[in-house]
Amino acid sequence: MSEIDPFETLRQISGGYCLSRSIHVLAELNVADALGDEALSAAELAKTVGADADALFRVLRLACAHGVFEQVGDSFRHSPASRMLCSDHPQSMRAFVRMFGLAVNWDAYRELEYSVRSGQRATERTLPDGMWHYLGQHEEANNIFNATMLAKAQGQIPAILACYNFSRFELIGDIAGGRGHLLSAILDAAPHTKGILFDLPHVVKQASGLASSRLTLQSGDFFRDVLPSCDAYLLMEIIHDWPDKKAVAILKAVRQAAPTEATLLLIEAIVPAGPEPDWSKMLDIHMLTLLGGKQRTLPEYKTLLKQAGFEFQREIDTGAGISIIEALAKQT
Ligand SMILES: C[S@@+](CC[C@H](N)C(=O)[O-])C[C@H]1O[C@@H](n2cnc3c(N)ncnc32)[C@H](O)[C@@H]1O
Repeated sequence: MSEIDPFETLRQISGGYCLSRSIHVLAELNVADALGDEALSAAELAKTVGADADALFRVLRLACAHGVFEQVGDSFRHSPASRMLCSDHPQSMRAFVRMFGLAVNWDAYRELEYSVRSGQRATERTLPDGMWHYLGQHEEANNIFNATMLAKAQGQIPAILACYNFSRFELIGDIAGGRGHLLSAILDAAPHTKGILFDLPHVVKQASGLASSRLTLQSGDFFRDVLPSCDAYLLMEIIHDWPDKKAVAILKAVRQAAPTEATLLLIEAIVPAGPEPDWSKMLDIHMLTLLGGKQRTLPEYKTLLKQAGFEFQREIDTGAGISIIEALAKQT
């Protein structure tokens, strides 16, 4: 086994934000769309995207060293990862990358020390009214955020559909379902099932095109408004947005609306018990910093479910970096 040089480990990690930032800028400038099948020089790309040729060359050279674009002599061509930055890629990650680079997110990370000292979201310092309020007020950031949710779900939805039978339900409520990508895919696969998409008004407005005889839109706030009565509920990457008390309040709101024995499906990336690197451990720090939320272990989810009146049934690993946690509403 090769020894990891501790000096190099610290140098790469502590200085590594220049890599994240470079990728954000490449996505923002839309360099991927400027590149077709042929390799182009930095000067040619710079002309198309409105950049300085030398600075763009250096940022691209760094990105290439990490697998995003490929350097051929003084020119650049696509790698599989840079192709996913193209706007028309079927699993385009451009919005996802732009979202992590949004000024509000970047500002929040300046205050990570505050989060670590206090346990509170860093955005208390930078966005006192919180991220959801900010997105409701800023159309471009809201569009990027919602497109990100779609992008991250694209790879996961086929895996979710493959390992769970949704057609046994008559009515499924997708609570905080964003623009309805998961619910629409489920209804396509389960033609006798109906669905209700519930989210904040500025998000539901963007999903208005989905309304049909089988898909109803309901806007509201899960802390204030009554949730619909359904025989199954989906909460995909919702509980991780919130600290324990609020997470339990959301689950209790679902429990209050749910008939006894209704099924609850939490779809979340579960933090593994082992020490290995895992996306959920990074996502956990994004949740802490931006929202005061938390990526949880399975025992932590079981505790929340019990507190809210649900009985854990099973965890299904979809194999796409996300699990389905199935629970039943118990008699209160
Ligand atoms: C991380 S996104 C997940 C969206 C979707 N479930 C998915 O996985 O793609 C969180 C969602 O929670 C919604 N949300 C936040 N606060 C809410 C509230 N108080 N009531 C209802 N929805 C809320 C947001 O608008 C957003 O769509």
